[in-house]
Amino acid sequence: MSDGLAGVEGTEFHIEITERYAAHNYHPLPVVLASGEGAWVTDVDGNRYLDCLAGYSALNFGHSHPRLVARAQQQLGTLTLTSRAFFNDQLGPFALALSELTGKEMMLPMNSGAEAVETALKVSRKWGYQVKGVPENQANIIVMEGNFHGRTTTIISFSDDKVAHDNYGPYTPGFRAVTYGDIEAVRAAVDEHTVAVLFEPIQGEGGVVIPPEGFLRDLRELCTQENVLMVADEIQSGLGRTGKTFACDHEGVVPDLYILGKALGGGLYPVSAVCADRDVLGVITPGSHGSTFGGNPLAAAIGHEVVLMLLEGEFQERAARLGARLEAGLSALVGHGLRAVRVRGLWAGLDVEPGGPSGRELCKALSQRGILAKDTHGMTIRLAPPICITEEEVDLLVDTVREIVTASAS
Ligand SMILES: Cc1ncc(COP(=O)(O)O)c(C=O)c1O
Repeated sequence: MSDGLAGVEGTEFHIEITERYAAHNYHPLPVVLASGEGAWVTDVDGNRYLDCLAGYSALNFGHSHPRLVARAQQQLGTLTLTSRAFFNDQLGPFALALSELTGKEMMLPMNSGAEAVETALKVSRKWGYQVKGVPENQANIIVMEGNFHGRTTTIISFSDDKVAHDNYGPYTPGFRAVTYGDIEAVRAAVDEHTVAVLFEPIQGEGGVVIPPEGFLRDLRELCTQENVLMVADEIQSGLGRTGKTFACDHEGVVPDLYILGKALGGGLYPVSAVCADRDVLGVITPGSHGSTFGGNPLAAAIGHEVVLMLLEGEFQERAARLGARLEAGLSALVGHGLRAVRVRGLWAGLDVEPGGPSGRELCKALSQRGILAKDTHGMTIRLAPPICITEEEVDLLVDTVREIVTASAS
């Protein structure tokens, strides 16, 4: 099984055995990370990198945040799993704190983001049948083109990304895709059987796509008028990333359901949740939905600490302040190696000039200069550094991006 590996070590060894024994569902950059602290990670050969992907925003607080690690370690040696067959002394305090953060009356805990999205879809359908009065099996849910909500069979059924979607049929029916950011398209798609509109307030995997100003407000108004649930997938955009607690806050909009994940587990543990008021989440009754690990004491302890940190507001303020610095630096590169730049808080999508190196090639060049980032859809580089990044590190990021993209443009 380990043929040809004698004498192979370090980066090469790890890449070889990973590629040989683990399925190829990702195409990683050739960097093998071994440790992380704050905004920095170190590879097996001792090279350091500024982590500007931050686990696709799961590491908003940075690697090994001392407060989160301490809370996790304390809980690890106390109680980690009870199943929901019993109560535990961590879930209630977590739910209470999350209710304060979201303004919603209840939460339903899950583990991965995709599970939370599935939960929101099930809740929306059940609400449609039991509260709105949609005839059985007739519910439809409006989704956005260019969406990314996870990898389950139902979720990829309404993905227009061919790689994510193709060859996994038969697909789950009941979804209608409309142009992202086009309120008239949503209006035209709504009918009396529509139970929900599922959207990302900013499309992350789509390339950090920000909808036109006013779209979220108009969507809120339309959903209220039509008695349709407004379901915001804030898994990547929420919890401080954009300079506010939720990306919906930028338009002063409160959805009916928040879907949260990624940073809710502080990058230590998978923790996700759906948050809504009692008239919506109340449709879930014993046995109608669940998960062995959802709401376990370790997850709840970590999630609770994350929420307490966010309730202090420092991370949101920091993401807004440092995000303005990032935006000023990156915007100057438009026309100098970058075709377009979109920034909201510490989250940026950089469209590279067509005809030059691809997003992946530029990310590889960045990694050789000590910056880790990831391309999306070939020609966009996505940046989402940990919010604990310093001003000097933001400047280092901008300077390195400038060097790489201007070199590629000349
Ligand atoms: C907006 C959004 N929703 C859902 C998901 C899926 O989360 P997970 O990978 O934890 O299942 C992601 C992951 O990137 C995401 O960005």
